[in-house]
Amino acid sequence: MSEARWAEVDSYVSELLAPHDRALDGALAASEAAGIPAIQVSPPQGKLLNILARTIGAKTILEFGTLAGYSTIWLARALPEDGRLVTLEAEPAHAEVAAANIANAGLEGLVDLRVGRAQDLLPQLAAERVGPFDLTFIDADKASSPEYLAWALDRSRPGSLIVADNVVRDGQLVDLSDEDPAIAGQRALHEMLAAEPRASATTIQTVGAKGYDGFTVALVSGR
Ligand code: SAH
Ligand code: DHB
Ligand code: MG
Repeated sequence: MSEARWAEVDSYVSELLAPHDRALDGALAASEAAGIPAIQVSPPQGKLLNILARTIGAKTILEFGTLAGYSTIWLARALPEDGRLVTLEAEPAHAEVAAANIANAGLEGLVDLRVGRAQDLLPQLAAERVGPFDLTFIDADKASSPEYLAWALDRSRPGSLIVADNVVRDGQLVDLSDEDPAIAGQRALHEMLAAEPRASATTIQTVGAKGYDGFTVALVSGR
């Protein structure tokens, strides 16, 4: 099965079930115009994030890695009027485009976009006593995924979800000779979850417009 076919099926699903409106189209156009790499989640994945957030009635969301705000828009659209999404982005040029995209989607009142490396922003968030978060989406520098998972676990409640993107990366996940720190981070995330009594998790492999990859979903039980 070819990658072209995976992308065709993604288009089919997107058109029927995850159609773009002007804000989502505009976000991708602005991202491309700014020369930002098109590494955002696919439309079906964005819709999945939106459905997961609505399923648990999420009112507070934390996102690691905003890029141009595409996943942010899908997630923030799941929030009620008094909801809040905190999203962390290291690259000022990405954050600038994201802020405009989020405003263009009419979501600026729900989204708190912070610019800096997540590692450096977390102490301030902790000092503000933000959270607990109903849903956390981990999608920044993959080498730091374990650190972000640990932080999110400490700021989750029973019933919270933690989702991580890019955990399979063409199967690199199981190639132990591969020393890429990004994939080492995703392996460590799996090992942490395996040993974590407070969460129950699984990983679903995905193919589509973004190639062969995967999503980890963890349900926090609080035990
Ligand atoms: N969630 C986005 C895609 C994020 S791509 C979407 O699906 O639409 C990963 C992003 O993480 C990039 O914008 C990159 O600049 C950012 N990033 C990388 N290292 C980071 C760090 N240490 N802290 C915060 N953001 C980081
Ligand atoms: C890439 C894809 C992503 O979804 C991401 O969050 C970071 C990088 C990539 O294809 O390089
Ligand atoms: Mg990603």
